[in-house]
Amino acid sequence: MVAQLERKRSKRVAKKRVRRSDADPHDLYERSVQDPDGDTAILARLFRRFRRREPVSLREDFCGTATLSTHWARSHRHRWAVGVDLDGPTLRWGERRHLQSIGPELRRRVTLLEGNVLDGLGPRTDIGCALNFSYSVFKTRDALRGYFAAARDKLVRDGVFVLDAWGGWGVVRPDLDRRKVDDFIYEWERARFDPLTNEILCYIHFELAGGARIDRAFTYDWRLWSVQELRELLLEAGFRRVHALWERTDADGEGTGVYWEPVHTENQELWWTYVVAER
Ligand SMILES: C[S@@+](CC[C@H](N)C(=O)[O-])C[C@H]1O[C@@H](n2cnc3c(N)ncnc32)[C@H](O)[C@@H]1O
Repeated sequence: MVAQLERKRSKRVAKKRVRRSDADPHDLYERSVQDPDGDTAILARLFRRFRRREPVSLREDFCGTATLSTHWARSHRHRWAVGVDLDGPTLRWGERRHLQSIGPELRRRVTLLEGNVLDGLGPRTDIGCALNFSYSVFKTRDALRGYFAAARDKLVRDGVFVLDAWGGWGVVRPDLDRRKVDDFIYEWERARFDPLTNEILCYIHFELAGGARIDRAFTYDWRLWSVQELRELLLEAGFRRVHALWERTDADGEGTGVYWEPVHTENQELWWTYVVAER
């Protein structure tokens, strides 16, 4: 959902003209928001950095159409993935798109589970992740701590849990970002922010070739969590160490894709980063 944060992602998806009649919100979402190859590479890199070994297994919480789980398993013949999501129709869409036409060997290495991320379904993995801020559906400290404890339980002994976080002074201002993807336009709307509760309401809309629109294709009713709150709750949930990372920039202020762990940093209009917790 939130590659919307001006995350510069290279998309290798073949260009395809989208008309209203064949527009599918999941397809448009995957093409405009997700970068499963990039996510696979960074998750493996972060795991190696903190664990000095190769990661084999991934748990993708809030997996939606499970594109990351599938790409993870595809990326190496020893890798396997578990994707968990509450929404059966979305999981089945992902199964049809990503798993139906692949060989049985790869198919065996991806397990999709319909259920709540709090329920502890499935085997333990090296890496657990909740990307694109999906954990923000938990709006109280108790609820988020409970989720983090459940995620910790599903890691192997030296497992790591990876989250992304976002913020900046622009995030709390109602606004709409538009970005062209192939021949459609992706819109990320930050519709409302409540300064008393930190609740934030966002939408994804799509504008198709010819001008037809799919308004509110996806709605996100979240709490905006700060990195410091995430860090505290991860520690309270039992994680041993938590690393709040920040992307290094070059002389022009552009992101380099290299993450370090400063103690303090400067705020920006919009930022996006990773938080890594060691079990
Ligand atoms: C925006 S999607 C995230 C998709 C994908 N992870 C990504 O990075 O783009 C959020 C998903 O979280 C799922 N979800 C919300 N609450 C959940 C819960 N408690 N347990 C499992 N899945 C949940 C929804 O069904 C939805 O598919």
